[in-house]
Amino acid sequence: MHSPLTAERSPATARAQECVAPAKIAVRLNGLWKTYPGGSNPAIKDLSLDVYDGEILTLLGPSGCGKTTTLRMVAGLETPDAGDIFFGDQAVVISSRRLTLPPNKRNVGMVFQSYAIWPHMTVAENVAFPLKARRFPRHEIRERVVRVLDLVGLSGFEDRPGPLLSGGQQQRVAFARALVTEPRILLLDEPFSNLDAKLREQMCIGVKLLQKRLNIAMLFVTHDQIEALSLSNRIALMNSGVVQQQGDPRACFTKSRSTNSCATSLAGRFSSKVKWKRAIHPARWPSRSPARATASCSAAAIIPAA
Ligand SMILES: Nc1ncnc2c1ncn2[C@@H]1O[C@H](COP(=O)(O)OP(=O)(O)OP(=O)(O)O)[C@@H](O)[C@H]1O
Ligand SMILES: [Mg+2]
Repeated sequence: MHSPLTAERSPATARAQECVAPAKIAVRLNGLWKTYPGGSNPAIKDLSLDVYDGEILTLLGPSGCGKTTTLRMVAGLETPDAGDIFFGDQAVVISSRRLTLPPNKRNVGMVFQSYAIWPHMTVAENVAFPLKARRFPRHEIRERVVRVLDLVGLSGFEDRPGPLLSGGQQQRVAFARALVTEPRILLLDEPFSNLDAKLREQMCIGVKLLQKRLNIAMLFVTHDQIEALSLSNRIALMNSGVVQQQGDPRACFTKSRSTNSCATSLAGRFSSKVKWKRAIHPARWPSRSPARATASCSAAAIIPAA
């Protein structure tokens, strides 16, 4: 098993990650294997990863390398053929004992590339939906919806029908809906890839601030190397169903370049110190000072208006 990231952090990166010193394991994936029916090769091969409370761990790798499959196994939407999954101390999957907790018992939040908000519902109805499905009392549903919409900067949008929102606003509804159950872990599968460049950057800042504020574990999937460098506390480089390397974002491209195409490509893009500094500049990585970042972002909204 991997230890928390302390050993290999450079002073600069440690400063950038400041108080993020995740100690408690939120999710542990242990020796997962998955072959889809009819598939000749396993989509996932002996994958082990720990995600710590309060960190963003990014799965970065080329199309088809198994990122979404990994997320779906954590959410319970796919069952591994072998291996175990733990949420903290709780066993969620123990393949050898055929133990598999169903998705609705895992309390996982998911945000996808497609906003997947229901067009026939208002913003408040969309966000309340997971609570209604779990039969929360009405007053608690009301309170939580108000709280989480405030968190994502959508107070006042409660009665707006889903289709009458911008893309960024719809994505924030998706975030609110994923967070309203106060999940153990938030799974993000390329959540910004339908947004334009400026909005992506704003959403990255918003997510980083959310992470700071909620101290929640996030497992984030992206193709986008800049996004990964900007947002992650750690990166796991995947290729052909295998985690080839994981750790500090900087280490991911300074080490093992020869064995991983992502690492090589990252190294190419950030070969100079200057370029690297730009990638972790506070404007892109506001967690250096949450208070300052919040002020510069928006006083009222965690995620700036689209
Ligand atoms: N439902 C399925 N049935 C059969 N094979 C599948 C299924 N879903 C995924 N696969 C295969 O499993 C492998 C991993 O797919 P996965 O969707 O996890 O990749 P990914 O890294 O998320 O790719 P992308 O970046 O394109 O979203 C691929 O080879 C894919 O073709
Ligand atoms: Mg995918």
